[in-house]
Amino acid sequence: MSQRITTFEEFRDAISGYRLPRVLLAGLELDLFTAIGNRSWTVEDLSQELKVSERGLSILCRNLAAVGMLQKKGPLFRNSRLSATALNRNHRAYRGGYLSLMQTHWQDWGRLLESVRSGLPIDHNIPDPPNYRRQFTWAMHHRTLEIAPVIAAQIRLGRARTLLDLGGGPGTYAMAFLARNPRLHATVCDREAALAVAKEIARTHRAGPRLSYLSLDFSNEPISGTYDVIWYSNVLHIYSPEDNQAIFRRAFAALAPGGRFIIQDAFLHDREGLHPTEASLFAVSMLLFTTGGNTYHVSETAKWLKEAGFVGTRILSLKKGTEDWENGILEASTPVRRPRAIVRRTQLKGSRRAR
Ligand SMILES: C[S@@+](CC[C@H](N)C(=O)[O-])C[C@H]1O[C@@H](n2cnc3c(N)ncnc32)[C@H](O)[C@@H]1O
Repeated sequence: MSQRITTFEEFRDAISGYRLPRVLLAGLELDLFTAIGNRSWTVEDLSQELKVSERGLSILCRNLAAVGMLQKKGPLFRNSRLSATALNRNHRAYRGGYLSLMQTHWQDWGRLLESVRSGLPIDHNIPDPPNYRRQFTWAMHHRTLEIAPVIAAQIRLGRARTLLDLGGGPGTYAMAFLARNPRLHATVCDREAALAVAKEIARTHRAGPRLSYLSLDFSNEPISGTYDVIWYSNVLHIYSPEDNQAIFRRAFAALAPGGRFIIQDAFLHDREGLHPTEASLFAVSMLLFTTGGNTYHVSETAKWLKEAGFVGTRILSLKKGTEDWENGILEASTPVRRPRAIVRRTQLKGSRRAR
């Protein structure tokens, strides 16, 4: 969906859009939904429980009730179905990992001008500590746990027996593909801290024993093994065009003849590369958090795929409303018979960088 701003009123309304998110985040920061739990509360009792002012809480709760996050009956407030589950720390469906990420994004986006000025991520001096990677990986799981099975159900893997979830983080997609395809074996490739989370999650799944783990920095090292399918979801945007081109060459080398490389990302689709709005806005996150990331036009990505030797590039259409990103899946294949020159060049490039 694209938003157009042409009048001052539309401009004002767009800027005022921060108000509701701020109300929702205040609820999260207070852990209000956990405190409410399964009970109904008067504002007076709840304000004592949370140690905040009655006046402040009354206005906050009224606004949360106005958008359906709380239910109000006379003087009593209770949780909605959503806030009683996904937002309630004591419920098994709590999505705390992703909620924490959303909370920190509020502060991070407040520093946008720093990145616009410098062209660098806001915390560019801080490396990737394992505890951050662990939290982020849980956030990715909590973000995709509902959508992944819906997407996996729409991608037919046919006779594929091996799938590599490249940058698979928690392995949520790999698990969804495994659950759908009983003869498939999958490997999730990521950093060690992310793989530890993937292992924890896989232990809770019936298909877990069919998942393997590959600890690798695929932006520098060749990908070991040969696969029928490589699933590259939400990684493209982290890297610069040059880095992605190198990763595409490594993916090509790791695929069997006729193998499929399926990329899921926030692609731009229109001629000027502005839309969908969500894809343009996501590039702002990449400015804030990565050194070279961006969101890319579907046709420039297709060009990189062709240059890496892939053929038959096409967009996979999913049912509207069941996508992670609008028209966000691009698929290409390795030729069934591979030209020798491409294989040799790809392997050399991969190994040279690995040194
Ligand atoms: C945004 S998450 C996406 C996770 C998952 N694929 C999804 O779609 O939800 C990107 C993942 O790629 C991993 N990743 C990025 N660059 C990597 C690299 N060079 N080597 C290994 N893993 C990498 C990150 O650790 C992270 O788990």
